[in-house]
Amino acid sequence: MGNVVVGQETAELKLDGKVYQLPVVVGSEGEKAIDIRALRAQSGYITLDSGFMNTGSCCSSITFLDGEQGILSYRGYGIEELAENCTFVEVAYLLDHGSLPTQTELSKFSQMLGKYAMIHEDMIRFFDGYPPNSPPMAILSSMVSSLCSFYPEMLDNPLENIEEMAARLISKVRTIAAFSYKKSMGQPLVYPRHDLSYCANFLNMMFDSPVNPYVINDTVVRALNKLLILHGDHEQNCSTATVRVAGSARVNLYASISAGINALWGPLHGGANQAVMEMLTQIHEEGGDYKKYIAKAKDPADPFRLVGFGHRVYKTHDPRALIIKKACDDVLSALNISDPLLDIAKELEEVALKDPYFVERNLYPNVDFYSGIIYRAIGIPTNMFTVMFALGRLPGWIAHWKEMWDDPDWRISRPRQVYVGPKRRPFVPLAERT
Ligand code: SDX
Repeated sequence: MGNVVVGQETAELKLDGKVYQLPVVVGSEGEKAIDIRALRAQSGYITLDSGFMNTGSCCSSITFLDGEQGILSYRGYGIEELAENCTFVEVAYLLDHGSLPTQTELSKFSQMLGKYAMIHEDMIRFFDGYPPNSPPMAILSSMVSSLCSFYPEMLDNPLENIEEMAARLISKVRTIAAFSYKKSMGQPLVYPRHDLSYCANFLNMMFDSPVNPYVINDTVVRALNKLLILHGDHEQNCSTATVRVAGSARVNLYASISAGINALWGPLHGGANQAVMEMLTQIHEEGGDYKKYIAKAKDPADPFRLVGFGHRVYKTHDPRALIIKKACDDVLSALNISDPLLDIAKELEEVALKDPYFVERNLYPNVDFYSGIIYRAIGIPTNMFTVMFALGRLPGWIAHWKEMWDDPDWRISRPRQVYVGPKRRPFVPLAERT
């Protein structure tokens, strides 16, 4: 269980006249948990915690976040330093290997990413089968799942092949995303180039064309690296938990990642970055009356939520949102763009953070609130924003899948439930049913 410390403390539980002593485990950053793995065997009781708001599913050494303090670190390194000083490839290596790469390790990893940047030519024909306007996340999850068909040799001995599978996925998902965009535009595919960095290659595959050569802009490349780093991992979020649950059945990495992509698609999760842009665009088109949307978000009778606000764990500023908000100003001024949606977003944040409804519920902008402003400035279409989230989150998903496979305490994920349906009743033959 990593470097968890089984503390000297125990939790005492009194049930049906008996007293149970449950061990307390303490994480490396001082988090405490009551280990209930023996609870049912000892007492016959299970615990109930819908949405797992109070339940730890595992011990992990990958990411630490403190929702009260607004702290986020990958393998012990603060997100602020990583976003400022690293490339996405460096951070992907850190997440998947546990340490920042030396120059030699980074060069080898980059070469692997370059080696695996192409997708099988037969896979390219898949794109012809999708109707126009197919959701990019649907295409992405099915293409990733199909990697099992093209690289079946990777499915045996996954831990021996994990480095190669990880590089394949991180590189090919980028190519699949760019190809699906080109196909949706009816433009010729632009193949990956061996002489470009990970992010520059993606941008070139997305925006280069025979009649309009794409000019690599270092500010844009830097901004994309920063965005992908900030999405790299986030402990047991919905999509990462999905990757772990699927992988716990010992299904292969590609299928587990495909499951994670589908969970990320949800508008309460990674789909929120697209929904934020649609919300800001609607407010702008209606003349900028964002106060109407604040009122809707506060109305318990209205299902509308202020998308990009709130978080299961952060009860203060999401540190990623703070970095992205500043990057918005930097990127837009470097590209000489003024985006009215950024002004609306900032006004929305300012009003919401003073409103008792949001203050009482600790609702702050999350990672999705400002990220779309930069994607839009780069030229990425709104319906691909969640695909960008998946590109960034991929190394984190892979790291968690591997950590789970390596975990000596690994078990197949199979939660219990409390049954509240009908009690046993006699069968009624069809002819007698009224
Ligand atoms: C991501 O888990 C992760 O780490 C995820 C993520 C990652 O990196 O993987 O950080 C990425 O998914 C960010 C979140 C993106 N989603 C959104 O922006 C959608 C809008 N936000 C929410 O729907 C909500 O805040 C969640 C889903 C993010 C969190 O939901 P919770 O923890 O289940 O909280 P809740 O729904 O129980 O809300 C608590 C209260 C409720 O009010 P009351 O019933 O107490 O009166 O806060 C209210 C909610 O109605 N509330 C909101 C709100 N978010 C919560 N009210 C208005 N607008 C909102 N955005």
